[in-house]
Amino acid sequence: MIVAKTSQMAANFDRGETVALSLSYHNKSVIRFISSVITKILARNNLIYLQDTIITILREIIVNAVKANSKRLFFRFQNLDMLDEEQYTLGMKNFKDFIIQNQEFIEDELKKSDLRVLVYLKKFESGFSIHVQNNSPIHPDELKRIKMRIQKAKVYNDFSEVYCDVSDDNEGEGLGLVLTILFLKNTGIGANSFQVSSNGKVTQASIAVPFQLKPAKVMNKIQQQILDEVRDLPTFPENIIELEKLCSNPEVDYRIIADRISMDPSLSVSVLKLSNSAAFITRRRIETINEAINIIGLKNLQAIIIASSARSILDERYSSFRQVWDHCNKTAFYARQLALTFGREKIAQNVYMAGLLHDLGKIVLLSTSSALSEWMMTLVSNRKMRSSTVIEEVSIGISHSSIGEQIARKWNLPEYLVQAIQWHHAPLGCAEEYRDVVYITYLANKMCSIEDKKFDYYYLEEDALDRFGLNSEREFMALHSNLRMKYLEHNEPKY
Ligand SMILES: [Fe+2]
Ligand SMILES: [Fe+2]
Repeated sequence: MIVAKTSQMAANFDRGETVALSLSYHNKSVIRFISSVITKILARNNLIYLQDTIITILREIIVNAVKANSKRLFFRFQNLDMLDEEQYTLGMKNFKDFIIQNQEFIEDELKKSDLRVLVYLKKFESGFSIHVQNNSPIHPDELKRIKMRIQKAKVYNDFSEVYCDVSDDNEGEGLGLVLTILFLKNTGIGANSFQVSSNGKVTQASIAVPFQLKPAKVMNKIQQQILDEVRDLPTFPENIIELEKLCSNPEVDYRIIADRISMDPSLSVSVLKLSNSAAFITRRRIETINEAINIIGLKNLQAIIIASSARSILDERYSSFRQVWDHCNKTAFYARQLALTFGREKIAQNVYMAGLLHDLGKIVLLSTSSALSEWMMTLVSNRKMRSSTVIEEVSIGISHSSIGEQIARKWNLPEYLVQAIQWHHAPLGCAEEYRDVVYITYLANKMCSIEDKKFDYYYLEEDALDRFGLNSEREFMALHSNLRMKYLEHNEPKY
């Protein structure tokens, strides 16, 4: 239900309709629902790397809005007037303890009351805006204080400055605001995109997110550097291109291919390694290139040759990122299994290959921006971000899917592969004829992210689940755990 509803909302948003959500309390299921809508909206607009940032900021704003409503509720219970200076001070003395000690009670009472938090999402030509409203008046002094904090926060450059300054803030609300501003600044969304206003009845906090982020100057340089890197990447070696052609000829003599591969020791090693990887579940270890061809077939071999060459070009140039490739291997395994499960045997080797290479943009991204890693690490540890890649992308303003797409085009990789690399986080954007390949790569990759707790079933696009008849969370989970087990069983390296 949630998957369908949030996909529908994201679609409405894309058509330019205002999406409105109403809530009384920020419990887990409410936050999950909102995160799901936001994730889908961002993915569809190639901004998936803003997921963590926007969800963190939005959650912060919603929590504050609910808190403002709780405050109003509390003042009603106490028969105090919020707008009266003396009564306000009196009420605030006990309010903090009240919300800490009575969370469940507050949740129930808010539900029964007329106090609501409304979230509006609206798309316009150059970006979109999020408005969070609560129907409690804000004390003019408090609004003034918030505005002053926002002003002050714009001056900070990094978190260390913040900690020195905010530690004397006894209300504790300051920190959330300052971090929000700092995040907006560092992501290139811009500190001015955050506004708080009140008309005496309703208080509103808004963020405007442009589709084209303006990275800070230093980030702009890095973006250029990445594009230069992609331009300077070597093309595929001649012998690989020839080998690939040979593999597409069904009449070919296997021995010619085996000989050619054997002439290139590093290619032989990686072909054997990948042939013995979990994807093919062979009964015994493949020892020679001849066996590899016989057991996994020419089509799979062709995929392996391309994937091996792509990887070795990147590994030679940059430090090897085992984690990324390990993740890709697992995605490839899942993708192949999914194709077989969904009766899409014909594209099994295509999705396998897409899995192997879908994150190749990440390698270039991670390598090029490593000069920044220290600064990134500060951000990561302070905000408990789950991965630094996200922040790097956020700061640089270019996604690893876009980088990957450019590399794939440069290497003249087949169109289905280019599409899978480009759309693996936003599958709805792909061309119609590649939908099966892209959707399966997407699902396989997301299964890995779910295992790493970076993604949630509820964030999945309904269309991708529907296409393969996955109608419920239970069905999806059963399939996922089945694949996971298979992967673990066969993942002991045989070579
Ligand atoms: Fe990815
Ligand atoms: Fe991935």
